Amino acid sequence: MNRTILEVTDLRKEYSQRRGLISMLTGQGRVIPAVDGVSFYLRENETVGLVGESGCGKTTIGRTVLRLTDPSSGRVVFDGRDITNERPSDGEIAIRIRELLEQVSLKDSKLANFPSELSGGEKRRVGIARVLAVRPRLIVADEPTSALDISIQAQVVNLLRDLQKDLGLTYLFISHDLPVVELVSQKVAVMYLGRIVEMGLAENIAHQPRHPYTGILWSSLADKQTTEVNRRVDDVTVERERRTWGVFDFEQPVSGCRFAPRCPLYKDKGSPAVCTDPASEPQLRDVGHGHVVACHFA
Ligand SMILES: Nc1ncnc2c1ncn2[C@@H]1O[C@H](COP(=O)(O)OP(=O)(O)OP(=O)(O)O)[C@@H](O)[C@H]1O
Ligand code: SF4
Ligand SMILES: [Mg+2]
Repeated sequence: MNRTILEVTDLRKEYSQRRGLISMLTGQGRVIPAVDGVSFYLRENETVGLVGESGCGKTTIGRTVLRLTDPSSGRVVFDGRDITNERPSDGEIAIRIRELLEQVSLKDSKLANFPSELSGGEKRRVGIARVLAVRPRLIVADEPTSALDISIQAQVVNLLRDLQKDLGLTYLFISHDLPVVELVSQKVAVMYLGRIVEMGLAENIAHQPRHPYTGILWSSLADKQTTEVNRRVDDVTVERERRTWGVFDFEQPVSGCRFAPRCPLYKDKGSPAVCTDPASEPQLRDVGHGHVVACHFA
């Protein structure tokens, strides 16, 4: 089994958002728990898909893992090194830039130039230096196939696969495109309102989901696939989903299971108290072969 390259433990990220004149003036805003206690790991050379509806916190996880955003709390360990609070020092960055300039045969003096002041050849060298700079081993691919037609999507997926094979890359693959996620990922994590609610092998998540949210997410895909044929029908489906699901909102108070207000299983079971008990928010538990689910009735 490949070794673990990325380990994320109890990651939390809160944003404060200021809305309206009063919050601007008072400096007080609402707090958004965009990522609310997420743990997962990636093994070297594997692809883990990260799915969930818009605003559930996927990009925030990606940016926090890459250290483009500071976490509020939690731990990110990359290749055995705790990088949660790590930043390269200005000295380190300057040395690396100089190494790269040398590698692509550009003079130090070019550092002060704007792009429009570089020749075409120099721009190419800068482009090559940017690729070399990252020496990537882990790639967070956030919506890499969105807004592309099917044939270009296939090219992108194939390119990502080839690069993974050639360079031994590991991917965290964030996408709304569930068929693509299922195709490229060994494992898939499903997010709902800032938390992972289910994670397991891609085929199990897609075909034998244990969490009611995952089931709904994938069955809404089946609706959409049939409507590929007819765009008008698709519009109706999206509108129907919008009406059924309501608006996704972090301001809804969470009491017990955060999916309860929309959960069909909760209704089928006659609204059991355990689902809305503030003291028993369902935690991820192993239901076999590393498949984890956060539902009292999974
Ligand atoms: N820089 C920010 N400042 C304040 N709030 C933010 C910021 N970035 C994200 N958020 C909020 O955090 C929540 C999670 O956002 P995020 O972009 O991680 O969602 P997502 O799952 O990637 O959504 P999508 O599928 O639409 O890309 C949202 O409510 C969003 O409005
Ligand atoms: S814990 Fe209850 S409300 Fe939450 S997903 Fe399971 S059945 Fe639904
Ligand atoms: Mg996003």
